[in-house]
Amino acid sequence: MSKAYDTVKKDPNRVIIFDTTLRDGEQSPGCSMTLEEKLKMAIILDELGVDVIEAGFPIASPGDFEAVSQIAKTVKNATVCGLSRAKEADIEAAGQAIQAAESKRIHTFISTSPLHMKYKLKMGENSVIEAIHDSVTFARKFTDDVEWSAEDGSRTEDDFLCKAVETAINAGAQVINIPDTVGYAIPEEYAAQIKMLFERVPNIDKAIISTHCHNDLGLAVANSLAGVQAGARQMECTINGIGERAGNAALEELVMTLRTRHDLLPYTNNINTTKITKASRTLCSITGTNVQPNKAIVGANAFAHASGIHQDGMLKHAQTYEIMTPESVGITESKLVMAKHSGRAAFRSKLSELGFELSDDALNDAFKRFKVLADRKKEIFEDDLIALVEDEVVRKNEALKFHSLKIEAGTDGPQTADITLSIEGKMHSAKIEGNGPVDAIFRAIREIYPHPEARLKLYQVHAVTGGTDAQAEVTVQLEEADKVVNGGGADTDTLVASARAYVNALNKLMIKRGSINPQRDDIDKAAI
Ligand code: KIV
Ligand code: ZN
Repeated sequence: MSKAYDTVKKDPNRVIIFDTTLRDGEQSPGCSMTLEEKLKMAIILDELGVDVIEAGFPIASPGDFEAVSQIAKTVKNATVCGLSRAKEADIEAAGQAIQAAESKRIHTFISTSPLHMKYKLKMGENSVIEAIHDSVTFARKFTDDVEWSAEDGSRTEDDFLCKAVETAINAGAQVINIPDTVGYAIPEEYAAQIKMLFERVPNIDKAIISTHCHNDLGLAVANSLAGVQAGARQMECTINGIGERAGNAALEELVMTLRTRHDLLPYTNNINTTKITKASRTLCSITGTNVQPNKAIVGANAFAHASGIHQDGMLKHAQTYEIMTPESVGITESKLVMAKHSGRAAFRSKLSELGFELSDDALNDAFKRFKVLADRKKEIFEDDLIALVEDEVVRKNEALKFHSLKIEAGTDGPQTADITLSIEGKMHSAKIEGNGPVDAIFRAIREIYPHPEARLKLYQVHAVTGGTDAQAEVTVQLEEADKVVNGGGADTDTLVASARAYVNALNKLMIKRGSINPQRDDIDKAAI
């Protein structure tokens, strides 16, 4: 039996949180993740308490298959789910990828709207019904927990949707998902569709209904909650609302609405809300995309009170302007932790407290960088250490390593970067002029390590903590053919952080390509 179905049958007000950050979220532009990044995110989602992690679309690529398999082996509590179309090869790949999971689900889908059936599938109603029956029946050979989705469900005609849902349940699906694939529905309409299914599908009690709402009109969260009020007991969502086009319903918004308005929405879930901020920030650092400052729950200004009237009210009584506390979503002040004279043992123990267990070599390297940082920056906060160590962990296995940088810049130009990198242990240098120091750095890196097909899509800087001596965290996004990678680098010197971020992005590109740049001749010419 599906764990989710069982949970809801025992507690009818329990809502299953199905997270699709690593599938629907990851497939959106600029959000692709490496295997290590997906694993890291999956562990955080598991700690957060999501019930289901949709880990990927295993037939899509060997990388996706591997990521789903590794997540299935790693995750301890959540059900691990793999997506498949209504095709045996897809279902088989999903079944194999999730095999090692303690609790596993196959999610299979086919379009049901007239528009999709006619133009996308080029299939008639009878063939779609047959495909639903066959795909769900086949998926049940791999697991008892099968979810079936009616793609473009919100634009499907009632009679046909009822028939499709009844067929999927008869074939053994215990979760029925009604996606608002194109983000077209409005709350009353979506709720009415779900109510209609409860009224008309004869075997509806043998499954739970799920929402999956896209945010094209900014209604994904409102639609999902309306769906729950109409009887749905699973919500599909993503951290920070990432996903196709305008994204999916944001997990943090759904969960905090349920918590804050429990008076009107008396539904329970398993999320530890104090882990929300960590999940959101980790995703930002992996994808290199910060959420907008005014984003609900996780935006930088979500708990900031700017106007004098509001600040005065807050001082008198926090509830005057605060409907939930920052602590409830895990926001704590970044603590002052270490200084110049702190020793290696204290450094190791602080890192362990922050969740980093480094090997002796990695610890030594990180400690050296900490000393350099502490010389430049008077106060070291927890966030500084996290940025430093994450940078160290990422850099450990890189084929391309950043060594040093000298910049000439200022009003009188020309701006010049003199950079040294190593490629698989061999040192290379280049001194190049550019249109500003950042341009000079990136040109110098390109001179040493040519990568003519890659395009710079994003360059972004933000300060890790406050103050003019704050570390800069730089994100560089590169695109080569269909591969998009985000590189990150942190340093008190913004230009050094920029060089590190670019080098990091190139290393990720190599991992994605599966090889170091084939243009070895060019590389050798630049060798010293
Ligand atoms: O938006 C959608 O319809 C989907 C399905 C695959 C569930 O993501
Ligand atoms: Zn979707």
